[in-house]
Amino acid sequence: MDLHLQGKTAIITGASQGLGRAIAKRLAQEGVELTLAARRLPLLESLSTEIEALGGKKPTLVTVDLYQKDSPQYVADIAKKQMGRIDILINAAGGSRMIEFDAPVEVWDEGILLNFSRLRELTHAVVPGMKEKGYGRIVNLTGSSEPRSINVANAAKAAVHVWSKALSHEFASFGITINCLQPGRIMTEQIAKMYPTPEARQHFIAGNIPAARFGEPDELATLATFLCSPLAAYITGTVIPVDGGMSRFAF
Ligand SMILES: NC(=O)c1ccc[n+]([C@@H]2O[C@H](COP(=O)([O-])OP(=O)(O)OC[C@H]3O[C@@H](n4cnc5c(N)ncnc54)[C@H](OP(=O)(O)O)[C@@H]3O)[C@@H](O)[C@H]2O)c1
Repeated sequence: MDLHLQGKTAIITGASQGLGRAIAKRLAQEGVELTLAARRLPLLESLSTEIEALGGKKPTLVTVDLYQKDSPQYVADIAKKQMGRIDILINAAGGSRMIEFDAPVEVWDEGILLNFSRLRELTHAVVPGMKEKGYGRIVNLTGSSEPRSINVANAAKAAVHVWSKALSHEFASFGITINCLQPGRIMTEQIAKMYPTPEARQHFIAGNIPAARFGEPDELATLATFLCSPLAAYITGTVIPVDGGMSRFAF
């Protein structure tokens, strides 16, 4: 299927590995020019080499720590300068933050900053340009809204769902869509750390995942790529699980 993505441009945060990296490769294969952001430059450089080997355009690499003040605007400015405009934003940087009930406020602030505020700020930095051009695709990688323990990321990502819905109403008539993907357990660096042994993985799978396995990053990347395309123009304000049936509720 031709997704009509040739010549479009995208920013991807959390591109150094995991889900962001998989989406980067898929979009590059569809002819999208990329600005890739993360802290670990060597990983971004190896991704750049892989993308060129796949026939994609050499991406712009931005080494950035999203904890730094003004980092979202920094990423948006570099992307705009290098690519001229931004058609697509993939917000993939983030991570689980399981905590105790009595965790200090700094722990909450850190998790909310990375998993909600920075993502929102970067989105706000690119939306005016998308509005002007009449095309925008924003895909946020969020997570389950069925908490199993106290986790700052659950609260932050639920905030992303609600904020995204509001934004989708505001900008749908300008050709901008905003959607959230909820990974269940997809094998990336953070999931490998959470379930370090085959036994730990099997134990979780047996009790929770009807598909009887963890997912692969590319299984989410293909859906994200479709959502970025002009073909997905009528899909906005959604929260879509990619979890092998792990979520228990239909809504
Ligand atoms: N994999 C899953 O099953 C799963 C489940 C639920 C939710 N999610 C969500 O999906 C998103 C991607 O997950 P993943 O599994 O691919 O995560 P991951 O393997 O931990 O990768 C996270 C990415 O975010 C970047 N990042 C983290 N902190 C950053 C910071 N301060 N500044 C800049 N970049 C930062 C990392 O790059 P550097 O370290 O190089 O900076 C990395 O590229 C996350 O938001 C995660 O919470 C994933």
